[in-house]
Amino acid sequence: MNKGNKIIKKIRLNDTVSMMEVEAKDISRVCEPGQFIILRVSELGERIPLTISDFNREKGTITIIYQIVGLSTNKLDLLEENDYILDLVGPLGKASEIDHNMKKAVVIGGGVGSAIAYPICKKIKNMGIDVISINGFRSKDLVILEEEFKENSTLSMIYTNDGTYGYKGFVTDGLEKILSNEKIDCIYTIGPLVMMKAVSNLSRKYNTKTIASMNPIMIDGTGMCGGCRLSVSGKTKFACVDGPEFDAHEVDFDELIERNKFYHEIEEKKCNLFKAVKNNG
Ligand code: FES
Repeated sequence: MNKGNKIIKKIRLNDTVSMMEVEAKDISRVCEPGQFIILRVSELGERIPLTISDFNREKGTITIIYQIVGLSTNKLDLLEENDYILDLVGPLGKASEIDHNMKKAVVIGGGVGSAIAYPICKKIKNMGIDVISINGFRSKDLVILEEEFKENSTLSMIYTNDGTYGYKGFVTDGLEKILSNEKIDCIYTIGPLVMMKAVSNLSRKYNTKTIASMNPIMIDGTGMCGGCRLSVSGKTKFACVDGPEFDAHEVDFDELIERNKFYHEIEEKKCNLFKAVKNNG
């Protein structure tokens, strides 16, 4: 019987974010930056969509990075090296569109969104295009993938909101400095909705093409359930099949921010219950 997908390596990146390298031969052979997988930890468990943050076609593995925010990611995080994830489906979604004729791009990651920004940054660099990375975190202890971005960017900047590491402030502070000084062909932004909205509002002023990787609630990942719908240019789109990347200047961020609030309370209750059970053995 197929046991599932073996976890080859697991690393805790900070208190709430972990990385897993997982055996997934078929997916690793064809996946591209920007695409995602959906996994299940147990038969009746939730389906968790996660972006492929790296892959190794020779080894037949993919790397996923997740934030332990809800019940399902808490359960996923109980698994260790040599354990098996029940199943993985993918690659899903469209690969990042990267124009070969670009001269210079900026890649912006916020929080765990940096894990999604990383493969895009790496691909742009490998295509021989100048790329500046800007990553933002609330504070020093949440910083992830610093070395990886340094290796794969012409210039790599880190912002922390409280100033405990890198520059003090927000990713938009760094972006404004760049846009006011030089021509950027395209900006890729991945992170919290409020951050992507702020990036999009700023880049619109400079008329700079901006692509946002959207990560709304997903269930089936095949365009059937409608859970991941969003409005782009006034039309309904599904992040799982039409995206996850969209023209940021056309996305209705306010609608998504409102909808996401709806699930927070339920998720928090389930999560607290899980932690109470776990702590009581
Ligand atoms: Fe169901 Fe996209 S996840 S339509």
